[in-house]
Formats: sequence, C-alpha cells, structure tokens
Amino acid sequence: MDAAGFSPATLSALLALVRKHTGIAMTERKSVLLERRLRPRVQALKLDSYQAYLDMVEKDRAEVPHFIDLVTTNDTLFFRTQQVWDYIEQEFLPQWFQDHPGKRLKIWSAAASSGEELYSMAMLCEEFQQTHPGFGYQIFATDISRQILAQARDGQYSGRSLERIQSTHPDWVKKYFRPSAHGLRVVDALKKNVELAQHNLLTPLKPSRQFDLVFLRNVLIYFDPEHQQKILDQARLSMAPHSRMILGESESISGRDTAYQLERPMIYRME
Ligand SMILES: C[S@@+](CC[C@H](N)C(=O)[O-])C[C@H]1O[C@@H](n2cnc3c(N)ncnc32)[C@H](O)[C@@H]1O
Repeated sequence: MDAAGFSPATLSALLALVRKHTGIAMTERKSVLLERRLRPRVQALKLDSYQAYLDMVEKDRAEVPHFIDLVTTNDTLFFRTQQVWDYIEQEFLPQWFQDHPGKRLKIWSAAASSGEELYSMAMLCEEFQQTHPGFGYQIFATDISRQILAQARDGQYSGRSLERIQSTHPDWVKKYFRPSAHGLRVVDALKKNVELAQHNLLTPLKPSRQFDLVFLRNVLIYFDPEHQQKILDQARLSMAPHSRMILGESESISGRDTAYQLERPMIYRME
C-alpha cells in the first residue's frame, strides 16, 4: 500500500484511467490528492474499494464525466497574471480593432475552468467597446469538466478568486457583479457574447472555428510533452492568421513549435 492506501495495482490502474479520459499525466506522487478527491464519490456510491470504483468507471460510461470532474484541477481567479491583461487592454485590443474594421473579435478560453478568465476578458471587451463604438466580440469557452462549466455558466464567485479584482478594480466589481446567494454573480451583460461547451483539448474543434485570441493557460503543465504537442497541434487548426495564443506563467513552448512565434513571455503569435 502507498501513502494514500492504494495498492500498487490500483494506483497504476487509476493513473492509467486519468490518462485515458483526460490525457493528464499524473505520477504516483499525486496519490494522496487523488484519494482525497475520490473518497467522497466512492462513499456516496457505497462501494467497498477504490478498485471497485475504477471498475465502474471502466464499465459505466455515465460515470466518466464524474471521474473527470474529480481528477481535474480547476484553480483560477479573475485577472490572473496582470501583465497579460495589461497587454490585451493596452496593445492587443487597440491594434486588432485598427487592423480589422467591421470585424468581430473571436476569443477562445480553452480550459476555462469556472469562468474567471472568460469574464475577465468580457469585462475588458465591454470597457473597450464603450470607447470604441463598432467593436464587437464573441467568447467561446471550453473545458473538459462538465461540473466546472456549470459553475462558469452560473457565474457566481466568492473568496480568493475575487480578491485581485476587488483591490485593483472596485469600480468594475460594482459595475459587473450583483450580490447573490453565495457571493457575487456576474451581470447578464457579461454573458451575452459568451458560448460555453464541453471539449477535450486533445480532440479537434469544428474546423469552421477560427479565433483571433486563444487563452491556453495553466493547462499544458498537466500533460507530458507528447500530449502537449498534440494539444498545440489541435489548437493551431483553430487559430486565424496573426492570432495570439496566451500561455500560463510557468509554461513555455519556445523553440518547440515553429508555428507559434514568441512575441513576449507567455504570448505567442501565429504566422
Ligand atoms: C488550472 S485550470 C486553468 C484555468 C484558467 N485557464 C486559468 O489559467 O486560470 C485547468 C483546467 O483545465 C481543464 N482541463 C484538464 N484537462 C483538459 C483537457 N484534456 N481538455 C480540456 N480541458 C482540460 C481542467 O478541467 C481545468 O478546469
């Protein structure tokens, strides 16, 4: 038995199932975390072992979405990594608007989690629209976890995820949120140009989808190099010429995929 109480066979079956259904490369070091996440589900289903649960995930397709919800990590917050948002607000939006008169900016928040990233972007777009009449935008937001997408759709937030925006933009909190049962909920105006959909990054999107700005932040870190490359290859098919892709602070693909040119840390430009 390991530190989490898994037998070696159960742990390796569990890691293989995580990889099969999400592509995420977890190692034995995550066993305690996985045990903590799976335990309530195993108890709720009144199963007598983790192996019994893994057998169920293998046999019962209906259990797979629950399993995915449990094994994915969804940490996020409004305006995570300030320099990215400064770049979008001060450089990307004005330049894009100038270069694409009459067009609608297409944004993809891939691995959107509970929605903080996409609503941060919606706020910047709404603000930009006020000073640039004629600007339009559409945000497509996806994640592999249905449960976390339901939270994004609900748009209700509290605690740590709001801390940064509350200190940097208390005026936007007043303007774009309303008190709700469990904290603050984004106003409908922020949802009007947003479409949410479940999507596994290892699979292709509809070829007709072409985006000008893609957020692929804090998700590549969960994959091995082979799967990272597969995700980058799939994403590339959905990127318009000269579009930008934004990665997380600890992610870099410099020198790896020549289709993405490093413009500055975390920001890549398609040829
Ligand atoms: C840490 S969150 C990142 C949220 C946001 N992009 C940010 O940077 O704050 C990672 C998200 O990736 C999602 N994810 C993991 N594997 C995925 C896959 N194969 N396809 C799509 N989304 C995936 C998880 O469900 C989780 O919500």
